[in-house]
Amino acid sequence: MPQTKRKPLCVDLYGQLRALGELPTAVHTDARTLVTALAREASGRGRPITLSEDRLDAVDAALRAAGAFDGVGALRTAVAGWRRQTRMKADADGINAYYDAERSDAYTARLAGPQAALAGRCLELAGLPDGGRGSLLLDVGCGSCLSSAPLAAAGSVPVGLDLAREMLLVARRSGAEVVHADMSRPLPFRSGVFDGAVSVSAAQFLCEDAAGEAAPERARRCLSETRRVVGGRGGAAVFQFHPPPEAAQAAASLLLAAARHAGLAAALAVDQTHHTAAVRWYLYAAEPPAAAPHASAPPPPGGCYACAPGAGSEGGACCVLRLARWAERHGLPAPQPAEEHVAFLEREHARYAHKLLRAWRRLSDASHGRAASPTAAQQQPGALAALPPLSADERECAERLWRVVGGALPRAEDLKAPPLLERVIDALHGTAASEPPAVSTQGAEMPRVGPNIIRVCSGSTKACR
Ligand SMILES: C[S@@+](CC[C@H](N)C(=O)[O-])C[C@H]1O[C@@H](n2cnc3c(N)ncnc32)[C@H](O)[C@@H]1O
Repeated sequence: MPQTKRKPLCVDLYGQLRALGELPTAVHTDARTLVTALAREASGRGRPITLSEDRLDAVDAALRAAGAFDGVGALRTAVAGWRRQTRMKADADGINAYYDAERSDAYTARLAGPQAALAGRCLELAGLPDGGRGSLLLDVGCGSCLSSAPLAAAGSVPVGLDLAREMLLVARRSGAEVVHADMSRPLPFRSGVFDGAVSVSAAQFLCEDAAGEAAPERARRCLSETRRVVGGRGGAAVFQFHPPPEAAQAAASLLLAAARHAGLAAALAVDQTHHTAAVRWYLYAAEPPAAAPHASAPPPPGGCYACAPGAGSEGGACCVLRLARWAERHGLPAPQPAEEHVAFLEREHARYAHKLLRAWRRLSDASHGRAASPTAAQQQPGALAALPPLSADERECAERLWRVVGGALPRAEDLKAPPLLERVIDALHGTAASEPPAVSTQGAEMPRVGPNIIRVCSGSTKACR
């Protein structure tokens, strides 16, 4: 047997060399790939990388033998810890040290396309009269104004606000109107001067303590100051943000709570803005309609089974379709997503519904065809144990959908056509519970299932979670 050659392996991660120990040279490439995969997993960004089980096992064994890490699990924890240590501080010094001249130029050169798409979506969601044409808009955390440029292109007049001097210098070179200020402090504008506000990829900084002040306080001040300067004439304030993947729901809830504390009607939405698996978070916050009792804000809409976590719960995020319906129902500035985006979202809802219904029917077949009863089927581990579990949310949603389609699996094409599509979308939003079924379920056998039998693995569910 040839002797396995071992060499120390260091990888460059977050600007530092990280020693992984003395590993067989044969696994060096895979170990490097694994570190990249874990870094992507920790940030929630970039295309996921998978290593085959054999290769993962080989790296796992090599890491354990080298002794620096107790296998892949320990390396994963270390990567997440390194990431936390190197995250910038959210105070003025931290922000300015991070966005130095070089980084500000590189950021601006690299990200024009994605930031423009996000700003465009914020503008659509803000529901401004005439799509924002002629509106004076505040761009909160404007940076080098990649997010302001599409607002100007749509005919509005953006004014940017940011804490990073170098980013603002880049913005000034492009002729943008900007102000140097901290979004978590009182804003340097007169009350009611703006028609609306957008914020792109900046509000996550409010979810961190800074300069001795706790995150909830900072977020509340930002949202109540936004309410003060926007004044409620035109549209909503829409904040797109990147929550840390390990605490996405907590960060999103913090912003939602801050908006509600400021007295705004607020909701969270998740959206596949780039029409890829990448999910982007939005906070929609609008002045409650004066006609509402005591001008109180309506509760947030809850979730969307097809797209978002926390369906049915108050703090859950929903999709853009549900957000638009909720806003309209409560007399708030109604998001106006582009037609092609609505068509994309409707297809995604129909696709998810079809997968869920197929899984439900498969279960029904297993219960009724090959076993005497659903209960008997559940008692036959061989028949169903191979299927991964269906969550409580998915079961509830599948039952509702099954009623909507009248107890028979429709063709995928039929689900995409109105009026069934509307009912399906309502069922996925959990808003149709009290309505009668679209088609009579008389005679149709409703599959009755026990808990945790099938888990639906839908592209859109994975993408949106
Ligand atoms: C990722 S950049 C986004 C910039 C721009 N909105 C875009 O889409 O390109 C985040 C920006 O938030 C700004 N920021 C972070 N904390 C801030 C604060 N407390 N007040 C104002 N700006 C802040 C940063 O300086 C940075 O320019």
